[in-house]
Parts: sequence; structure tokens; C-alpha cells
Amino acid sequence: MTNFKRTTVTSALPYANGPVHIGHLAGVYVPADIYVRYLRLKGEEVLFIGGSDEHGVPITIKAKKEGVTPQDIVDRYHSIIKKSFEEFGITFDIYSRTTSKTHRELASDIFRTIEGKGGFIEKTNEQYYDESAQQFLADRYITGKCPHCGNENAYGDQCESCGTSLSPTDLINPKSAISGNVPVMRETKHWYLPLDQHEAWLRKWILEDHKEWKANVYGQCKSWLDMGLQPRAVSRDLDWGIPVPVPGADGKVLYVWFDAPIGYISNTKELCDSQPEKYGPWEKWWKDEDTRLIHFIGKDNIVFHCIVFPAMLKAEGSYILPDNVPANEFLNLEGDKISTSRNWAVWLHEYLEDFPGKQDVLRYVLTANAPETKDNDFTWNDFQARNNNELVAIFGNFINRALVLTQNYYAGIVPALGPLTDYDKQTLEEFVNVKSEVEKLLNNFRFRDAQKEAMTLARIGNKYLADTEPWKVAKIDMDRVATIMHLSLQIAANLAIAFEPFLPFTSKKLRTMLGMKSFSWNDLGKIDLLVAGSQLETPELLFEKIEDETMQVQVQKLLDTKIANEAANYKASPVKENVAFEDFMKMDIRVGTVLSCQKVPKADKLLQFRIADGLEERTILSGIAQHYPNPEELVGTQVCFIANFEPRKLRGIMSEGMILSAENSDGKLVLIQPRAVVTNGVEVK
Ligand code: MF3
Ligand code: ZN
Repeated sequence: MTNFKRTTVTSALPYANGPVHIGHLAGVYVPADIYVRYLRLKGEEVLFIGGSDEHGVPITIKAKKEGVTPQDIVDRYHSIIKKSFEEFGITFDIYSRTTSKTHRELASDIFRTIEGKGGFIEKTNEQYYDESAQQFLADRYITGKCPHCGNENAYGDQCESCGTSLSPTDLINPKSAISGNVPVMRETKHWYLPLDQHEAWLRKWILEDHKEWKANVYGQCKSWLDMGLQPRAVSRDLDWGIPVPVPGADGKVLYVWFDAPIGYISNTKELCDSQPEKYGPWEKWWKDEDTRLIHFIGKDNIVFHCIVFPAMLKAEGSYILPDNVPANEFLNLEGDKISTSRNWAVWLHEYLEDFPGKQDVLRYVLTANAPETKDNDFTWNDFQARNNNELVAIFGNFINRALVLTQNYYAGIVPALGPLTDYDKQTLEEFVNVKSEVEKLLNNFRFRDAQKEAMTLARIGNKYLADTEPWKVAKIDMDRVATIMHLSLQIAANLAIAFEPFLPFTSKKLRTMLGMKSFSWNDLGKIDLLVAGSQLETPELLFEKIEDETMQVQVQKLLDTKIANEAANYKASPVKENVAFEDFMKMDIRVGTVLSCQKVPKADKLLQFRIADGLEERTILSGIAQHYPNPEELVGTQVCFIANFEPRKLRGIMSEGMILSAENSDGKLVLIQPRAVVTNGVEVK
């Protein structure tokens, strides 16, 4: 769409069953916020809608586990999530929730309208029912043996051991997760959205009319369409959700994926109804052909936003359809998939505890590494490097030099511009293009390249100062210095504008230091943003270096999580064949004290121990060097060893015995040591 009057931007409503992490921010909320800030800065009419998705089975499971109500769960996480978004400067016009009254009413209205138009089909089929709990069982509430890998605890929708998607009837020996009883099959009626009947127009609308969608989005839609669409149930037998609003639907609620996207509309309505003068009637954001609708989501939501929700809106009949759905791929963390249940994530609220005031650093790194075209990896190493080498060394360094020099030479007053040299003109030419380049990239949802391009302004500024060397010129020609500083400050003001969408906190700080009262996107590229004679504020550093020690704390935190997960998943190996007492007695296990311990040269695994064994001394080699990087610390401690283990030569050294270690679930070897000091040479039995 090229001619539109306004834009409605939505970002996926996160499930209110856990806090939000860097994956959410990188995939959905930071790009959506950049886009919205950019449109606002251009003076366009735009609305940014967010909210929590508060229905669905996982929320009921979490509630059951904690012995609280689903409402307790969503109340808790809705406020945590909302606060995280505020703290990271995500500028929703509204952040509401799908348990609101407005939402329940609107979702019910839409269901009834579609129903009234004959837009659903009703089907009865058999589903698992728990007779003692007197309820139908959601797929997640049935466990059993996975037919593929034999895992005894597979769920009715998926086996988490082998990753296969399942349906409840695939499970061998199904059990109800509520009562533990064997469920029975019982008939139940549901409403279905006949996606097959929508296939023809969807094909044309996506595959022909929206060839400009991102390749990952277009490709996923095409493969869904090519497989052929099937009717999808939009109701569930559950007691958490919006009741199906028609007679004869007792005990049934709307499927969470039916009500959640309607949340975008209800939240718009809630906002417009509360401030009609400011936002106008809500329908103008959802029912006017001059409105452009854009959904920011992650890749697992593509089918719902490109196929199911449009089919719902079409079936209702009075809504516009999305103009674009710039979905992102996933962000991994240090090489592993982010996972709430495995606590493998950087949680936003924890990040802010550890890095107070550094919201923009995370925003910058997540955009620089955004999973726009493929899955990407977040590492603390990269986080530190981008902060130190880009934000501090380029952006911060330029601003600091420009402001401090102005402070020193002109008491912080913007000096007047004198005649321009050829080099000045050349520098200005380099940055007039930045505006159109950044715009082109932002218009195409290419945020990482857009941010990179904005960064060239800082590079240009740095290079300009390095080449013109005002600190040297100051000794001979203060008029020339005035021009250099004047231009540098104008570049700084340009940076404040260009980075407002990306680094809003930094932009604000910079604008304050420069005394910029008003600013707009259209000022970008101009060199009259600051007036000669105006007073700047005392400069402050925009960014600070992050030290290795700070990063080590974060890396250690992740390592601890890994170890805890391994322990939680550890399955002890089956016990070996029995041994007779006499056989056990053949082993001579004893305690001795370490007299010396060092690495064996050129063998990365071996430690050479000298042990006082109560008789004399003996040398034993042990393959634990990688687990004890400071072997000298073992001197003076006691170890257990097999004293009658056949001596053997390793690396030319005779080893007389074997030192005992336990191999932990993470593969780490830990020495077996007596809990109190004992006499050297005593037996272990
Ligand atoms: N809660 C869903 C998720 O986190 C997203 C819902 S988006 C909406 O995957 F459109 F349904 F709201
Ligand atoms: Zn399996």
C-alpha cells in the first residue's frame, strides 16, 4: 500500500505465564518500537498496540502447579511484563490484557457475527475425558509413552524428549495429568473455522498481492497454503477463557488463538474509548481502508497472523487485513535455544538489576544482532564488544570530544560557523545521504542495517575531528576551530535525531546536553539544528566501558543454570551385574595425602600425584587435569586410591595405582576425599 493516512502497529501479545526475556525484545518489541518511534518522528499518525495474552492451557497448568488460580498467575506476570516494557522504553499507546471486560465483549461480538453469517462449521468428535475430574482433557493434560522414542512422560501435543508433535491418541498408555487415571473417549462438539473455504482468496492475497513480504514470512505462508488448509477448531473444553457466546456451549471457551489477536482490536477500543479526543473512534484504526495494519511477531506466530486471523477478519466482514507482517526468526543464547522452562534466558528484569541504566546498550546489541533473516545468537562476548568498540569507542567518543572541546574553547557556547573548506563540504556531503538510506531500510523493516547506517554519522564525526585536529589548530587559528566545532556539534545533533528510534534514552540525554528543544525526522541531514551563541550543558559520558569481570559474572550465571539443568535431567545409569564379596575384597582401596601435584608436560589431561600412603610414597597419574586447573591447591589434602591397581607406564612415568573421582552429570570429574582427616594408608571399605 502506498497511499495511507495512518498506521496501526501491533506487537504479539506475550503469554502472561512468565517474565519476558531478550528473545522477546529482539524478535518483536524493539523492532516494533523502532518503527513506531520513526513514524512518530516523521509526524505520521500511528498507534502502537500491546498487551498480555492471558488465556490458554499453559497458564492453567502453571496455576495448578503452584496451587493458585489462573487469574493470580496472569495478574502477577502482566504487571511484571508491563513494567519491563516500560523500563526498556517500548512506547505502547496502550498495554492492556485479554482478561479485560472490553476484550471479552468484543471477542464475543466477533464470534457471534461470524456465527450469524454461517462462518463456522460445527463438528462432533471424540476426545479424552477424565471421569473422576469430570472434564475433557486438553492435549497438554494427557501424558503417556511416546510412540517414537519411548519417553514415558510425553504430552498429548508433543514429546519433549524427541521433539515430535503428537496428538493425544498417539500416546501409548495415556493418563490424565489431573487425576492420574486412564481417560475415556467421549463425544464433544466444537466450532471450526473452515480455512479450506478461505484458501482461494488467501492464496491470491498473499502469494500474488504480497510478494513484498519478507522471504521467511512469504515462504512459510506458501508452504502452509501448498499443503492445503484444513478447518481449525476455535473452541475448547476448558474452564479458563472466554465462554463460547452462543446457546448450547456450556463448559466451552474460545480457543486462545481465536481470542488473542482480537486483543489488538479490543485494546485499541479501550484506548480510543477512554481518550476519544486524542485517538478518535477505534474503528478508524481497524475498519478504514486508509489505515495500514502492521503486525510485529516472531516466526512461530506466522500462520496465525497471516492465515488464521485474516480469515477470521474476512469472515466477520468489516475489518481491514494486515498490510505487512514483518516476522523475525529466533534469537538463541550462547548457542542454545532460549527456554523459559529451562531458565535459559536473559530476563529483562534481571538485566536491569545487573546493568541499571543500560537499556540502550541491550537495545543496540539486540538490533545489531536481530534475527531478521535467520536465527541469531546472543553472546555476552559480543555484547561487551559492541558496547566497548562501537557505543563507547565510536558514538560516545565522538560526542564526548565534540562537547568537551566546545566546553574548553568556548565555555560550552556554540561557536559561529565561518567559511567552509573543501574538506568540510566533502564531509557534509557524506552525511546528507544517511537520512534517505536509513529511511529506505526502516521502510523495509531492515532494522539492523538501518542502525548500522545511522552509526555512520558517528563514524563521519569521529573521522572529521581526527582529520581536522582542532586541538592543534587551536594554537594558530581560533576562527577555523569555531567552524570545526560548529559542524561537529551539528553532526552531534543529527545523531540525536537519527538514534531516537534505536536508542531513545541516549538520544534524550544528548538532546538535553545540546539544548535541543524540538526535533523531527525531517531535520536529519541539516546543519542548522543548533544556533550559534546557544549554551550547551556540561557534558556527561553517554556510554561506559564494560569490563571482563562484569561479563564473567554473567557467563558464570549461565554456566550455573546449565549445571542445574543437567542435574535436573540426569538419569542414573542402570546398576551393573552383582559382584561377590570375595571379589570386592580383592580391591585394595586406601587413603593417602597429596605431597605434590602437577601437570604432566605435553599431556593436557594428566596430573602427576605424589602420595604419602602410610608405607612410603607412590606416584599416581590421574586424568583430571582439566577439572583441576590449579593442581598445587590439592597438596595437603587426602584422596582415595586403588593401591593394588596394576602399575602401568603413561608418558614414560610409572603410575602405581588409581585415584578415585566421581564423574558429575556435566562430565566434570570430582575427587573423592574423606570428610575428616584419617591416617594415611587406612583402607576404604
Ligand atoms: N501469546 C502468543 C505467543 O506468545 C502470541 C499471541 S499474538 C496474538 O506466542 F495475536 F494472538 F495476540
Ligand atoms: Zn519421543
